[in-house]
Amino acid sequence: MNPVKLEETMMHFLLEHQLKNRRSLNFLILMESIVTAAKYIQHYYDLAALQGNLGEAGSTNVQGESQMRLDLLAHQTVMHYLAESNQVIEATSEEVTEEILLNEDGRYFLYFDPLDGSSNIKHSLPVGFLFGIGKRMLGGEEDYRLRRGREFIAAGMFLIPSGIFTLSLKDAGTWQFLLDSTGVYIRPTRIRFPESPKSWELSFNAGNTTTFSTPVQQWIAENQPKYNFRYTGALAVDFHRLLHNGGMFMYPAIVNHPNAQKNRPEGKLRHMYECAVVAFIAHEAGGMAVNEAGDDVLEIQPKKRHQRSALYVGSREVVESIREVLRDHVRAQKGDGGRVEAAKEPDATGAGVH
Ligand code: AHG
Ligand code: MN
Ligand code: MN
Repeated sequence: MNPVKLEETMMHFLLEHQLKNRRSLNFLILMESIVTAAKYIQHYYDLAALQGNLGEAGSTNVQGESQMRLDLLAHQTVMHYLAESNQVIEATSEEVTEEILLNEDGRYFLYFDPLDGSSNIKHSLPVGFLFGIGKRMLGGEEDYRLRRGREFIAAGMFLIPSGIFTLSLKDAGTWQFLLDSTGVYIRPTRIRFPESPKSWELSFNAGNTTTFSTPVQQWIAENQPKYNFRYTGALAVDFHRLLHNGGMFMYPAIVNHPNAQKNRPEGKLRHMYECAVVAFIAHEAGGMAVNEAGDDVLEIQPKKRHQRSALYVGSREVVESIREVLRDHVRAQKGDGGRVEAAKEPDATGAGVH
C-alpha cells in the first residue's frame, strides 16, 4: 500500500513555533479566528455577484472614501471572530474611526484592512485582507499606544480568491500556506525576495507619475527601463506578486498635482494596516520599506490610528537606491546642500482625493 502523504498544517507549524520559542498558545487561538474570518470573507466575495453585494454601501469611512458592501461585510466578519477568540484587547479597522475595545484582559492588538483593493470588487478582480499584530505590555501597565511596525509580533495577508495566506513571524521569516480542498491551511513554505534581478518588477500607479516629486520622477525615468511594470490597484495583490518576483512597489507622495487640492503630501496608503504590515512582511522576507523621507517604515511611531504614509517597499537593493534620492531631497529641502534640487511643490495641506 502506498503511504498516504500527510501534510503539515498551519496550526501545527504555529504550535511548534510557539513551543520552540516558549511562547503562549493564545496566539494559535487568535490565528484560528483570523483564518476563519479570512475564509468567510472569501465566501462573501464568492457570493457577492449573486447576492448583489458588489456595489457601494452608501456610507463613507473615516478617510472619506465611500464604503463598498463587501468592505463592511469583511469588517463585520473579522470583528465577529476576533471578539469570539477572546484574545484581543483592542482592534483598529480601516472601516471604523475609533479604536474598538474587545477584552481588557486580552493579549493582542490587531490593526487590519478587512478588504484591500476595494476598487477591484465590482470587476470580480482579486483583493486582499491585511493585518498586523501587536502584543500587550507584559511587564507594567498597558498604555494602549499604537505599536511601531518593529514591535509587531506578526503580520499577514490573505489573497482573495486564491486563498493563499502569507504570514510573517517576528525574526522567524515570511511563510506562505495553501488552502487544500478540506479547508485546511497546509504546506508552510518560506518566502524570500529573489536575489537575482532578472525577475524584478516595478509596481506603482503610472498615471500619477507627473504628480510625484521631481527626484522621484527622475529616478523612475532612469530606472523603469530596467524592469517590467505591473500594477493591479490592490496593494495586497501587487505586493504578493512582488514577494515572488522582487523589485519594488511604491505609492509616493503626490506633491505636483495640477490641482493643488488633490495633492497628498502625506501619501495615500494607511500606515497602521497597510504600510507597516507589508513593511513587516518584506523585512522578514529579506526586503525593506521606507517612507517619503527615506525613513524605515518599521521605525515610525504612529501618532494617529489612520495616519497615511508614502510607501516604497520591496527588494533591499531597489529600495535603498530610491532611499538615497529621498534622503537627498529631504536634505535639499532643508537647504543644507543635498545634491538634488528641491522640487517645486505647491502648498497643499488638504488630503485631497486623487
Ligand atoms: P482600500 O481598498 O483598502 O481602500 O486600499 C486601496 C489602496 C491600495 O490597495 C492600492 O494599492 C491603492 O489604494 C491604489 O490606489 P490608486 O487607485 O490610487 O492607484
Ligand atoms: Mn487597503
Ligand atoms: Mn480596505
